[in-house]
Amino acid sequence: MKICCIGAGYVGGPTMAMIAHQCPDIEVMVVDVNEERIRAWNSDNLPIHEPGLDEIVAARRGRNLFFDTVIDDHIRAADVIFICVGTPTKTFGAGAGRAADLRYIETCARRIASVAEDDKIVVEKSTIPVRTANSIKRILKAGKPEVNFDVLSNPEFLAEGTAISDLLEPDRILIGGESERPVETLAAIYGRWVPRERVITTNLWSSELSKLTANAFLAQRISSINAISALCEATDAEVGEVAHAIGMDSRVGSKFLRASVGFGGSCFQKDILNLVYLCEHYGLKEVAEYWEQVVKMNDYQKRRFSHRIVQTMFNTVSQKTIAIWGFAFKKDTDDTRESPAIAVCQDLLNERAHLKIFDPEVPGSRIREDLGCEDDEGKVTICHSAEEATEGAHAIVILTEWDAFAHEDFAKIYQGMEKPAFVFDGRNIVDLEALKALGFEAYGVGRGRPGTS
Ligand code: UDX
Ligand code: ADP
Repeated sequence: MKICCIGAGYVGGPTMAMIAHQCPDIEVMVVDVNEERIRAWNSDNLPIHEPGLDEIVAARRGRNLFFDTVIDDHIRAADVIFICVGTPTKTFGAGAGRAADLRYIETCARRIASVAEDDKIVVEKSTIPVRTANSIKRILKAGKPEVNFDVLSNPEFLAEGTAISDLLEPDRILIGGESERPVETLAAIYGRWVPRERVITTNLWSSELSKLTANAFLAQRISSINAISALCEATDAEVGEVAHAIGMDSRVGSKFLRASVGFGGSCFQKDILNLVYLCEHYGLKEVAEYWEQVVKMNDYQKRRFSHRIVQTMFNTVSQKTIAIWGFAFKKDTDDTRESPAIAVCQDLLNERAHLKIFDPEVPGSRIREDLGCEDDEGKVTICHSAEEATEGAHAIVILTEWDAFAHEDFAKIYQGMEKPAFVFDGRNIVDLEALKALGFEAYGVGRGRPGTS
């Protein structure tokens, strides 16, 4: 069997590497229009940082895992084609800022239709609005009426930073389809390493909607605990204690209740806005408003965090130096899409602070690009260690929960900072009491009232 995956990004790359790893007899070809990305996949320096990924790519690449910019030949040769291209939020026209931009998906469908010569199973893995499979089907059918295309929905639930373990032991594999044979073909691929009872099959639309709903529920939990974190800061409650107490109720569950500076990543906001757009389209105004509040609460949380920094630092950070620890949207990834760090840094730059930014994996060029500031403006300095970022700084702001940040030499760092030296922990990873004992004024999210450090 031959698989072709269109799109060598955060979803396509790791997922195909895992399939190749588990199914040595299947040839897995990953194609992308981005030459630089494909070159990186074929080098020792993979284009994405993901723990455990290097090892499995090294083990299978050149054997049954290949990366190429030639697309048509591989589509033609494949039995199963995965579509793993991006579906960003539309920035123009109807539904701008909410609806998914499906142009990459449509381009893929047209390409498949134009080059395919025999029957294909086409699997949509990109997150897409409900009923997209229908559009894909119509494009394929119109382009090549003589060829039979089976379209399946197989949403990916992996989280960045834990992609390899998520792929290895998924909670479930979801396959939506209309006829049994193609669904079984795909189920058999996953069946090589995923227990069969975890492979669930539904109709196409349920599968598509489940992906949006799963992300909306997960994001909702974070917005819910973040909403409570604001109340904790206004009172003397500790959000970690509240989360622990409610999480022990097995109906609530303990995961995904970490209060933070806000959620980021390429999926949560995009998928909720997509859901909101869908509800509006079907005239479900109240449902749309309900889910939109999850995103609004996230925006509020990011703004609230930067506002608290400014307020605590005597209502001005103008001309002050602030060390920013972490820029990725979560630890163990180099991805910065929708990272709360972008919004917080922008707020601080608007307040005319000077930022010294360190992230162990995000390249400085991407940080500058995300913040829209050039090298020579002097507003942002990219640093090579957490400690370097703190030299002469008035405050440390932690925006990504990289493990190493909790183990820095804070006694030494304190010596090199302006006084009073502040710490604002947007991820609740450092021991605030230990920092206070060293002389810092230290704050977390949902922990302690302002001015009571
Ligand atoms: C998410 C879903 O988890 C995954 O199933 C889906 O396939 C894609 O979207 P991802 O965005 O990669 O995955 O990471 P995730 O671990 O869900 O974190 C998303 C954001 O929420 C991060 O910014 C993270 O820091 C934040 N978060 C997560 C919290 O603030 N608190 C938590 O308790 C959990
Ligand atoms: P995700 O996080 O969903 O994997 P990415 O943006 O990381 O999203 O990856 C999507 C990839 O799809 C990009 O590398 C992009 O170049 C590729 N891509 C988009 N459109 C096409 C296309 N028509 N043909 C081949 N590759 C495409």
